[in-house]
Amino acid sequence: MSDFKERIATELTAVRNRSLAYTDTEDDLLLRQHSPLMSPLVWDLAHVGNYEELWVLREAGGITPLRPEIDDLYDAFKHPRANRPSLPMLGPVEARHYIEGVRGRVLDVLDSIDLHGPDPLHRDGFVFGLVIQHEHQHDETMLATLQLSKEPGLVRDGVLPPGRVTGEEEVFVPSGSFLMGTDIQPWAYDNERPAYRIHLPGYWIDRFPVGNGAYAAFIEDGGYDDPHWWAPEGWRWRQESHATAPLFWTREGGTWWRTRFGRTEPVPMEEPVQHVCWYEADAYARWAGRRLPTEAEWEKACGWDAAAGRARTYPWGDDVPRPDRANLGHRAARPAPLGAFPAGASPYGAEQMIGDVWEWTDSVFLPYPGFRSFPYREYSEVFFGKDYRVLRGGSWAADPAAVRTTFRNWDHPIRRQIFSGFRCARSASPEEV
Ligand SMILES: [Fe+2]
Repeated sequence: MSDFKERIATELTAVRNRSLAYTDTEDDLLLRQHSPLMSPLVWDLAHVGNYEELWVLREAGGITPLRPEIDDLYDAFKHPRANRPSLPMLGPVEARHYIEGVRGRVLDVLDSIDLHGPDPLHRDGFVFGLVIQHEHQHDETMLATLQLSKEPGLVRDGVLPPGRVTGEEEVFVPSGSFLMGTDIQPWAYDNERPAYRIHLPGYWIDRFPVGNGAYAAFIEDGGYDDPHWWAPEGWRWRQESHATAPLFWTREGGTWWRTRFGRTEPVPMEEPVQHVCWYEADAYARWAGRRLPTEAEWEKACGWDAAAGRARTYPWGDDVPRPDRANLGHRAARPAPLGAFPAGASPYGAEQMIGDVWEWTDSVFLPYPGFRSFPYREYSEVFFGKDYRVLRGGSWAADPAAVRTTFRNWDHPIRRQIFSGFRCARSASPEEV
């Protein structure tokens, strides 16, 4: 096998080990639905194998279907998450057996396929990148399910570098054009393409994501009780949900507590806030005299190298994420404190844009000019429109293989079981420009 194929095989093994670790528990926990927002864990497990069978074995490899009768069960579009527990899903033992059988054949296809041929599905290993990223995204979803389950002891924690205080709360991005999206990232999804030039007036963006301490000040200032700070539909959500703090937060004895993977602990004020929905992020920003950055502002601040006239894959350059640059890949089961990664700063000095928490942006999920769906409409195209807001940057639970400056995630503005936070921005005044 070539070095490139070896690398793909290593990534396939790594992501599978991750999926198996999250499902290495009692059958009852795998079969149960922990929230109507989520699938039973065993559904995710067989679904990633079925997706791999569809794309690598059948589409790229031309292999006859192994289990065509289960395709329907694992089609995410046919069965909303709330209904999945009633499906005749494969049980845990059968699911593991099925995905292992698929994987063995996938490695055979990898061995024999030409990754430099004209087929865009094969070229640069795109189809393998597709299934590797897809499985990592489901692994992150499984972590969100495990968090909702409140079962203790299922998710490992770890050590992260300490934070630091800089005194400089925001960084300036001067007026100018930059290249948004990509034509050159081989595993980029269709929604990240094609690259196009866009001009942005000068703006300020937070050096770090908004921390728990700053967010607690918003709550204590009565932020959840004052419609003034909320968009009209956000205020409706606030009244209907009765939310008074981020999801998983409680107030007791004058202290904020949070429950994280079954453990309750004081809220660490120096960590980025997570488990807030878009409406909460939007209200906080208004209260702080700021606004959420647009998706373009976020991307430029993250990766545009004006001196070189090119976009970087990551804020620090094109080298793969190292532990001193970003908190990715579930090193610990939480975001790192603010200021933990000075070596991960972007050309403009923004930090922790990659990893820690997904960051809500002001933008709705729309195609870039010249968008073409590939390899299927249901990946991105059917979600375009005003129902979804874009999140950027990946969380602590996202794997380096599924994170880059141009990567776009999207969700409903009410969602907060995801590992979501935000940072604020503001337009530069005429004197500042
Ligand atoms: Fe999926």
